[in-house]
Order: sequence, then structure tokens, then C-alpha cells
Amino acid sequence: MTDKKNRVFSGMRPSGRLHLGNYLGALRNWVVLQETFQCIYCAVDVHALTDMQGNSTKDIKPNIHEMILDWLAAGINPEKSLVFVQSHVPEVMILHSLLSMVTPLGWLMRVPTFKDKIRQMEETEENVSYGLVGYPVLMTADIILYKANTVPVGEDQLPHIELAREIVRRFNNMYGKIFPEPQSKLTEHPLIRGLDGKQKMSKSLNNHIELAISPEETHKRVRGAFTDPQRLKKDDPGNPLICNVYSLHKYFNPDKLDEIYSRCVVADIGCVEDKEILSDGINEMLREFREKREELASRPKYVSEVLSEGAERARSIAQQTLSEVRERMGISQSI
Ligand code: TRP
Repeated sequence: MTDKKNRVFSGMRPSGRLHLGNYLGALRNWVVLQETFQCIYCAVDVHALTDMQGNSTKDIKPNIHEMILDWLAAGINPEKSLVFVQSHVPEVMILHSLLSMVTPLGWLMRVPTFKDKIRQMEETEENVSYGLVGYPVLMTADIILYKANTVPVGEDQLPHIELAREIVRRFNNMYGKIFPEPQSKLTEHPLIRGLDGKQKMSKSLNNHIELAISPEETHKRVRGAFTDPQRLKKDDPGNPLICNVYSLHKYFNPDKLDEIYSRCVVADIGCVEDKEILSDGINEMLREFREKREELASRPKYVSEVLSEGAERARSIAQQTLSEVRERMGISQSI
């Protein structure tokens, strides 16, 4: 079944190589959506500038390259979906400026993610930039520049999509209904715990497993994972329900879950063997991905070709929307 009337937009910040949490939480779902919808997937480099500054921005380009390789290897198909880099379609920055004129400052100050960020930044005495305040306005511009109506995101992004809807309503009221109100589509967003067993898997906590590492490195990373903290010796029975490694078996060894459970609770299987089974499962599931990634990475221009074609196609949609917006707002280019 295809439903090309619905247009999907989603974005990811160029954080470099993706990990299992990114894959299970978002990417895997993006791949599925492109079978049914017209999808637009964007590496949001301008958003990255809200928390990268100065010298560290030299990482943006290589990060985009690595991330796009992950997308493509995971099955994002540039013939089905539009894949591009945010700043390569500069119209989004113009739309951002124009939307900023219809967005009350109070709405932005109330966004929970913004309040959290400010609190954090005050502690470390960092400056809050004007751009950071407008983060959700730029997100709104991303989405509506393509008149997308469906936005797959994780729970943390819901307040941003809610705000996008409010901005759209306000714009449509003032200038005529030209934009659909975007709906969020919550990914069945399993909480993938990191190797520390405590927090969400994340690169900044270094408790993650990158998709693109080798099978040997995968074994090594998993060997360092925490398990049931009460289980000190191999002969102690374990409690899989509080074990981090067990929670990951659900994704990588679904058919072995019962067996592992019953062997763990009677200490018939030790944590070392258990981890070995987990990394085998991860390696098996990622085998095809890794082969494809290597193949794509060996074609020197492939990523840049995909991105320049994506930007060109995205741009033609963007220019149309923008000229409509300018017309409505009384600043069209023809006087
Ligand atoms: N802020 C999103 C995140 O950090 C990324 C993003 C930017 C996005 N623009 C978007 C997501 C538009 C969905 C739609 O995950």
C-alpha cells in the first residue's frame, strides 16, 4: 500500500556514526516508512550549530558523511526518499526568519527542552544564543517548507512538534491556509539502555555500540557491559529482569529469550557466555548492514552524489513554498 499524499519529514543531527539506540529507536522505522509514504530525511547541520561552536564545527562535515553512510547502509533508499543536508537548501533559513515574525517569544520560552537547556547552561555559565531560542522555529521551517504532515520522532521531540502545529495555525490564520498541521508519529520507541545498564544508550555517555564497528570490537564492547549487579559469582543465580544484557537479547536474540532466562535464574549460564550470545546476535543482525556500508564507503563520491541530488530535488519544492509564503506575507520578489 502506498500513500503518497502523506509526506513524511524527519531530521537527525549529524552526530557521526550511529549506534544501536539510534537504529532501534529511529532509523529502522524510517526505512519502513519509505515503503508507504513519500519521505524526506534531513541531516540538520544548522541545528547542530546550536551546541557546537568554534573549532568543534570542523567535525560537522565528516559527521554528516558517516551518518549518511549509516542511513544508506540501513536501507534508506535515495530513489524512494529525499536525502539531503539542511543547509544545502538555504531557503529553510529564510523561512525560519519569516516564521520568527509570527512566533510569540513566550511560546518559545515555555518549551520544556529549552527550559532544561537553559538551566544546564546557567550552571556552566554558558551563553544562551538567540539561535537556541529559535531551535523549534527552525524545526518548524524544516517540516513545513516541504508541507510535510507526518513527523516521526521520539518522545523527547513532542513539545517541538506541538509548537510547530501552533506556529502553523497562527500563520494560516494570518495569511491564509497554506500549510498542513504536522502530526507527530511516535516511533515505537524502545528505551535502549546503554552498556552501563543505567542510562539511555548515548554517544556522549560512551555506553553505546556503534553500528559500524567490527564483530571483534562488538564482542569487546559487550564484554565490558554491566549485568545483574547482585550476581557476583558464576554460581550465583541471576535475575534477568534487572539485567541490562538480558534486556538487549529481546532485540537481537528474540528466539533465545526463554532459554536464556531459564538458564540464568538457575546459574546454568554465566554472564560471560551470556554476553557472547548477545554479541553474536548483534553481529548477525548487523552483518548485512556492515557489508553494505563497507561497499558504499568504497565508492568515493557516492554520498556526495546522493546528497547533491537530494538537495536539488528538495530545493525545487522549497523554492515553490517560499515564493508562496513571500507572496502571502507581502514581500514577494515582484514589485
Ligand atoms: N531536533 C531533532 C532532534 O534532535 C532533529 C530535527 C531537526 C527534526 N529538524 C527536525 C526532527 C524536523 C523532526 C523534524 O532529534
